[in-house]
Amino acid sequence: MVVLVTGANGQLGQSIKFIANKYPTIQFIYTDYYEMDITNIESCANAFLKYKPQFCINTAAYTAVDKAESEPEKAHLINCIGSKNLAEVCKENDTILLHISTDFIFDGASKTPYLESDLPNPQSVYGQTKLEGEIAIQNTWEKHFIIRTSWVYSQFGANFMKTMLRLASERDSLSVVSDQIGTPTNAVDLAEALLTIIQSSITHHPSLATFGIYNFSNEGQCSWYDFAAAIFKQKELKMDLRPIPTSAYPTPASRPAYSVLDKTKIKNTFNIEVNEWKTSLVRGINLL
Ligand SMILES: NC(=O)c1ccc[n+]([C@@H]2O[C@H](COP(=O)([O-])OP(=O)(O)OC[C@H]3O[C@@H](n4cnc5c(N)ncnc54)[C@H](OP(=O)(O)O)[C@@H]3O)[C@@H](O)[C@H]2O)c1
Repeated sequence: MVVLVTGANGQLGQSIKFIANKYPTIQFIYTDYYEMDITNIESCANAFLKYKPQFCINTAAYTAVDKAESEPEKAHLINCIGSKNLAEVCKENDTILLHISTDFIFDGASKTPYLESDLPNPQSVYGQTKLEGEIAIQNTWEKHFIIRTSWVYSQFGANFMKTMLRLASERDSLSVVSDQIGTPTNAVDLAEALLTIIQSSITHHPSLATFGIYNFSNEGQCSWYDFAAAIFKQKELKMDLRPIPTSAYPTPASRPAYSVLDKTKIKNTFNIEVNEWKTSLVRGINLL
């Protein structure tokens, strides 16, 4: 069974590599921007011709949320056109596509965890282009799993956990936003969920009704302030940590005030057990 991973040098791509040896029956093909540029359909088609994957995990994306506000064309090209290209080559090759999307497609006005069926209303260029990517896939190729996730961190790449640890070595006090509520997601847990979906699909041959959108994050909820506090506590780092409102930390892109995702569908469909965010944070920090 061949599983092709796009954007494999990113945080999620490296997390998939990290757990790959637990899946000895799967041959993983890791492609980066240079071998397979998802914005170039010929490059995608050539990679599919060469590797003939049964599954494609698209981790490639334009993920610079604030920068996207000033680079909307580039974000659209990668997050929308790139996703559409992949859906097209997957269709040509009868390959199941697993694509990663985001909580930022929601406006954050909800007071209860978002269901897959809730109406998206992105408030940023990044969120808008990620939603356009979802729609392009849905309109192109039915054999897809779109996995929406949130607040991804890991031992790999640049992320909130690593930024907090770096700041702890540079200063004694820090203000962090306390009125945005969501759920951190360890990218290794996300990688495991993706591989569980693939293994289930190999065994059960999903019906068309099984394809579609699924939420995945860790369990529970917190603010960025709570997340930072837990990071410092776990590392026993002294930090004068202060909660501030979003209004005191303006950013080019606006972010949802609430973006907790309901995981009932993925848990019930694929029998996935989801770790509490604090449990997974300990695991992530210990891997640094
Ligand atoms: N990080 C989060 O908090 C978060 C939250 C929710 C959802 N997500 C989603 O989760 C997925 C994985 O995120 P991540 O954190 O692993 O992102 P990441 O670390 O930024 O990795 C994305 C990778 O895609 C590559 N890439 C960019 N343009 C490409 C192209 N045209 N062709 C091929 N590769 C390309 C990037 O390469 P370069 O670095 O060389 O550009 C990078 O290696 C994304 O779909 C993202 O939208 C992330």
